This record gives sequence, structure tokens and C-alpha cells, in this order.
Amino acid sequence: MFEEAQYFAPVAAQEDGSVVVELSASHPGFADPVYRARRNTIAGLAVDYRPGTPIPAAEYTEQEHAVWVLVTRELAIKHAKYATAEYLDGADRLRLPGERIPQLEEVSRLLEPLTGFRYLPAAGLVPLRDFYGVLADGYFHSTQYIRHHSVPFYTPEPDVIHEVIGHANALASSRYAALYRLAGQAARRVQSDEALEFVSKVFWFTLEFGVMQESGELKAYGAGILSSYGEIEEFRGMDIRPLDLSAMGTTHYDITKYQDVLFRAESLQHLEDVVGDFWDTCDDDSIAKLIAAAV
Ligand SMILES: [Fe+2]
Repeated sequence: MFEEAQYFAPVAAQEDGSVVVELSASHPGFADPVYRARRNTIAGLAVDYRPGTPIPAAEYTEQEHAVWVLVTRELAIKHAKYATAEYLDGADRLRLPGERIPQLEEVSRLLEPLTGFRYLPAAGLVPLRDFYGVLADGYFHSTQYIRHHSVPFYTPEPDVIHEVIGHANALASSRYAALYRLAGQAARRVQSDEALEFVSKVFWFTLEFGVMQESGELKAYGAGILSSYGEIEEFRGMDIRPLDLSAMGTTHYDITKYQDVLFRAESLQHLEDVVGDFWDTCDDDSIAKLIAAAV
């Protein structure tokens, strides 16, 4: 079973048409009936969404906006120190609002003129083949809910802060956006589940948790690090390994903990040459060789 299935709270549609998000007992919002009702309402927007129509607006509460304001302000301070120049340039051009949570439709409106990417709403886990496949067409599946207000700097699941601060700022860069598209093309090209999992693990260790050498310092470009208040202070102390396709595609990761093994590109060009070319050309046979070459 691919680990990412545990990343999202399960979403169940009831017979009466309502939607229930099943939070685990350890989730910060588990015992908060108001938060759970919000999660159900927001998941329902994505369940009811029909492609080709505007993404329904989530009517966020003042408390939810306040979480966004606090976390994005603190992350921006850390980004200035730890994010790659290409990510910061993307953020500068995208200009996400800092004083409220943007609607996904608004994120699409800001992003599309820059790199052609648009957002799609997701209630929870999107099957891997769909999630990655539509990247080839310039679509990014995104959750809309925000983490629980009691622990603003922690979320056990990818929330709108991760999806928009982490990913949209990267997708505003034409060079990163091209890599997302290539990952999507690779996911469409491969046939076996094993090959698809390899493609997705390379994505995990690069566009989610990738780090890069820049001007003599280690910087982050992965959305998972750049949207995590805790991880962004810790990544330089992790087990940093050279960029290696066989290793990235076969290394086990635990989504419930900080990523303790990270892979370093020597430059953005290096990332494009190794990972971009891999996604551009890989198939089941070439991936089987990479798996066999893993030690
Ligand atoms: Fe992500």
C-alpha cells in the first residue's frame, strides 16, 4: 500500500448526500464539533464540484482567516532565509493575499497568466494516477480546508496553507511548473503501479521535499518543507544525500514524521537535467532498471 493514502483523512459520502470527513482520534480537531462540521461542509464543495465550472467559494470564518494570516506571515520570514531564489521570485510574481485565505478560483486567476496552471478542488486523497496525470494538463488538485486553530503551526494533513503557500508559489515559476508538467506526463506514460509509485516518490523527494545548493547554502524548494513551520528550521540538519533517481524512487518515507532523509540538487539546472529528463523519458522498462540498480 502506498503510504500517501494515510496522508489524508478519509471522506465518505452519506446516503442523504451529506459528506463526512473521518478525522482520527489524534487529529487536533477531533473533539471540536464546530471544526468537524466545517471540514464536512468544505469537503462537500469538492465532492459537488463539476469540471468546467468555477470552484465553489469556501466561506471561511474569521478564526480560519486568522490562522492563515499568522502562519503565512511567519513562513514568509523563514522563506527569506531558507527558500530558493526561484521560489521567492515565484512568490513575488504571484502575490498571494496575506490578510485572508484566497479562494482556489482566485489562486487560479493569479497563476494562470504566469504559467498556465489552474487549481482543482479535492475533498481528500485523489487517486495517484489522477493527481499526477492532470499535472500534464496544467491542473493541480488542492484541498480547501485549513488546519485546526489550536495548533496553527502544525497539521497532520495537507491543508490550504500547504497547497497554496507551498505549491502555488512554486507553480508561479515557469521552471518549476515545467517540472510539475513533466511529472504528470511521466505518470500518464507509465503502466504499472510499481512504476507509478516510483514516479510519485521522485516527486515526493523533489517537488515536495527537495533541497538545493545555492550560493554556498542549502535552500529548500519542496512545498512540504516550505509550508511547514517546524521542518523549515530543521532541514539543514537532516541526512542530506546527493540527487539519485534509484535512491529517491525506492527510499521509504514516513509521512507522520519530519523527513529525515533529503536529496540535494546542486542547482536548478542539475534538478532539470536529472529529474526533468527522467520524467520526460521514463517508462516501465527504464524504471525497472532503476529499481534493480537501487542498493
Ligand atoms: Fe503537496
